[in-house]
Amino acid sequence: MIVVRAPGRVNLIGDHTDYQDGLCLPLAIDRAVRIEVTARGDGQVHVTSADADPRAYVNALDTSRGFDATVTSTIPVGSGLSSSAAFGVALVLAADPTAHGRDLALAAQALEHRASGVPCGVMDQMASVFGVAGHALLLDCRDLTVAPIAIPAGVDIVVIHSGLPRRLEASAYAQRRAACEAAAATLGVATLRDATEDQVSDNPLARHVVTENERVRASADALRAGDVARFGDLMLASHGSLRDDFGVSTPELDLLVALGMDAGAYGARLTGAGFGGCVVALVPAGADIAGPVTAGYRARTGLEPQVFTVTAADGAGVV
Ligand code: GLA
Repeated sequence: MIVVRAPGRVNLIGDHTDYQDGLCLPLAIDRAVRIEVTARGDGQVHVTSADADPRAYVNALDTSRGFDATVTSTIPVGSGLSSSAAFGVALVLAADPTAHGRDLALAAQALEHRASGVPCGVMDQMASVFGVAGHALLLDCRDLTVAPIAIPAGVDIVVIHSGLPRRLEASAYAQRRAACEAAAATLGVATLRDATEDQVSDNPLARHVVTENERVRASADALRAGDVARFGDLMLASHGSLRDDFGVSTPELDLLVALGMDAGAYGARLTGAGFGGCVVALVPAGADIAGPVTAGYRARTGLEPQVFTVTAADGAGVV
């Protein structure tokens, strides 16, 4: 028997850029999918999971090896922390424990496309595979290079789940992606990575992508310099762009960002695809934003947020 593990991720900045060859800055988190794998002689794959129905992934898995798999996970399902991407990475590893690096990430992304039908980019799988403890990952989705950047001492990364599932995510995500592809085609560039701000000034969707890449570059510099105040400002600007230009925020996510800032965060923004799910906040280490954010959110919405601190963990592999 072997055990494989693949972590979830949270993205600090750079959303809806990965499928346009862009930049993002995620980290693998200390919550993961684990699979106990035992070989079978008959070529069949049997997966049992307490959390989610694995059938679509098992049916879409491309393997000639048979195995029994028992899945456990500490990543909240449907929270925007890439529980399904982590499951996909772990399942590809279960089928082939020698898989690694970009090939592993790309195989898991292809599995996700087949299993869920969502035309996701590669950020989530890359973060799960290339995670480095204590580091965020500057990811270039054009050439699939990864530059780990140490997370400065003195800050905590706090995830706040809105308590609402992500709505219309699959169709709205695919629609945004197609609109970006159309904008790139109109401009005559391969992807929006190649567009300039001047070229996209009258197209809000494309403008988000182009300005978000610039914000990722600037935030990587800020992180390297330990300038968390600047990093926080860029997170807020990113949230505004995702809300106003890209149209993927919700009133609840906007409220959580505002409450997080009121509670003393350096910065906060929706993380991942949007349409519900989570906010990520960068806060002074040890600051209790959970109390005031929970109280304020409950009072305004009647909803119960989940607030938890995450730390940057190592990427997927055989345990
Ligand atoms: C989802 C997708 C990713 C990425 C984000 C938005 O998490 O799986 O590929 O596009 O949305 O940044």
